[in-house]
Amino acid sequence: MGSWILIILVIMPGAWSGDWQVTFEDQCALKGSSVVIKCKYDYPFGNIVTSVLWSKVLLVSGIRKLSPLSSLPVPQDHFIYQGNYRGDCSLQVNDVQPFDEGTYYFSFVTTFNRWTSKTPTYLSVEELTTVVQPSTVEEGEKVRLTCVSGCPKPTHVRWFKDGKAVYNTDFVASRKDAGRYYCAVYGQEMVRSAPVPLNVQYPPEKVSLSVSPPGNILQGGAVTFHCRSDANPPVTQSGYRLYKDGQFISSGMSYTISEVQPSHSGHYYCQAWNNISWRGNDRINSTEVHLDVQCKSAYRPMNISISMDPQEVSEGSAVNLTCSSAANPAAYSYTWYKMTPYSSSDNSTMIEVGSGQVLSVLSMETLHIGAYICLVRNMWGEYSSPELLLNMKERQGGLQPVSILAGIGVSLLATLVIILLLFWRNRKNDADKKQIVSDTKPTEVTEDPSYSLYANVHTFPSSPSIKSQRNSHFDAAAFYEDEVTYSTVSIKPRNSNLPHYIQQESRSTAGKSDESVIYATVVKSS
Ligand SMILES: *[C@@H]1O[C@H](CO)[C@@H](O)[C@H](O)[C@H]1NC(C)=O
Ligand SMILES: *[C@@H]1O[C@H](CO)[C@@H](O)[C@H](O)[C@H]1NC(C)=O
Ligand SMILES: *[C@@H]1O[C@H](CO)[C@@H](O)[C@H](O)[C@H]1NC(C)=O
Ligand SMILES: *[C@@H]1O[C@H](CO)[C@@H](O)[C@H](O)[C@H]1NC(C)=O
Ligand SMILES: *[C@@H]1O[C@H](CO)[C@@H](O)[C@H](O)[C@H]1NC(C)=O
Repeated sequence: MGSWILIILVIMPGAWSGDWQVTFEDQCALKGSSVVIKCKYDYPFGNIVTSVLWSKVLLVSGIRKLSPLSSLPVPQDHFIYQGNYRGDCSLQVNDVQPFDEGTYYFSFVTTFNRWTSKTPTYLSVEELTTVVQPSTVEEGEKVRLTCVSGCPKPTHVRWFKDGKAVYNTDFVASRKDAGRYYCAVYGQEMVRSAPVPLNVQYPPEKVSLSVSPPGNILQGGAVTFHCRSDANPPVTQSGYRLYKDGQFISSGMSYTISEVQPSHSGHYYCQAWNNISWRGNDRINSTEVHLDVQCKSAYRPMNISISMDPQEVSEGSAVNLTCSSAANPAAYSYTWYKMTPYSSSDNSTMIEVGSGQVLSVLSMETLHIGAYICLVRNMWGEYSSPELLLNMKERQGGLQPVSILAGIGVSLLATLVIILLLFWRNRKNDADKKQIVSDTKPTEVTEDPSYSLYANVHTFPSSPSIKSQRNSHFDAAAFYEDEVTYSTVSIKPRNSNLPHYIQQESRSTAGKSDESVIYATVVKSS
């Protein structure tokens, strides 16, 4: 039995060498890890160890004092004695914290003696440190992750980003790589570095312009434009710019027009800028937004009508056709068309004869006879008036011989003969003339018992006979005969039962004249 013990003593070096001694080595521990401070002790043969004790040097009021570990304010399983009473004095420290760093002594008591280690062991506490290089990158740049351990012993680590494992420590940054990185001891993942953020910058994306309220806006209301983008760093107020039809309007994220006008209508877009360029562009355009401001109570041309002044027209006299309509905004164009007469089919051809609100016929001719319409246009579209039929009093049969006579300067007697002839013809024709001039409005027939007939004798101008307010498209000069001369004859008939067509202006001058007076005016053409 004794020899067997001896053999064991020889095999185990350092054990029971017979000297009072404690041996251990310094330790470096990572914060959060568990570490075992290896320790051996020896004592002369014959002693029996009765108790062991680990102590730590504390500074209390500037005085170094050795305190048993059991007296330290730490969790119960923070220090665990792994050794025994026969030479092993290893100490396990769990969840090493910075306050664990320091100087430790081991002591033991035997049946004959007590012994404390002559030298202490030193526990240093270090941390893992993550280095992200660089910590701010633009997309597409390279990033390297490094884990630095304060302890000399190499540490096998793993990488995490926001709690998820990462396998590459060298990579080209994209925006999804942004996050907080840390390294952790392999197998002891709770032993980790503090997280370090990686900031991946990128130019504005998804730049969008919105307008509220959306859709068509009524004049006078408020409109707000709002520009948004996804960018890193975020676009600042001054990084946003608003444009209308390519023209700079304002900088800033929002822009409000408190009383919007039709002139604000247009195509808007915004630009976002955060000093990060993308393919050489650092100002990124949004998509376009169309703003359509409608006039208050806007409506298309309505109630379009053509009025005729004077209401009746005879050959050679002037007449104005006026196109009127209700529209908001006001009509900006009027176009006149004449329907080609005697059109057999439904779609009679239209000839454009003028533009402008008033179509003036300076001198009525046969070729002017026909149906007229005007087309009225405003922002809502172009709309047509009903047709107006322009016709004239038929006088040609009587006027031709008169003109010849007037031209050669015949006597008043001759004129009177013609007048009488005309008078007779007028009476005869009156019944047929009733519907000659028609209009969308019924022809005004006055019940004035007096009867007048006026005719102006003058030569035709050689200029076009139809003149519209703005420009003339209807050049009818070619249709006129050379130097035609007309005479004007006025008659005051005694018989007031005859039907009559009286022009307004004529009535005012001749209305209450002596019934017995006969007027005649002869103007010779120059
Ligand atoms: C924009 O970036 C350049 C370098 O990329 C820098 O010199 C400049 O100061 C930056 N400007 C602003 C307004 O941040
Ligand atoms: C943004 O719009 C402006 C004007 O239309 C144009 O000159 C510029 O090139 C556009 N920028 C980009 C990045 O498309
Ligand atoms: C069109 O005429 C009708 C009937 O005269 C009238 O009630 C309506 O108000 C007119 N419309 C416009 C826009 O003037
Ligand atoms: C026709 O209108 C013009 C102005 O537009 C005017 O000068 C002319 O006197 C009018 N003619 C008639 C017959 O009303
Ligand atoms: C009527 O209009 C149609 C097409 O709009 C055309 O083909 C046809 O020739 C027209 N008829 C006449 C008589 O102008």
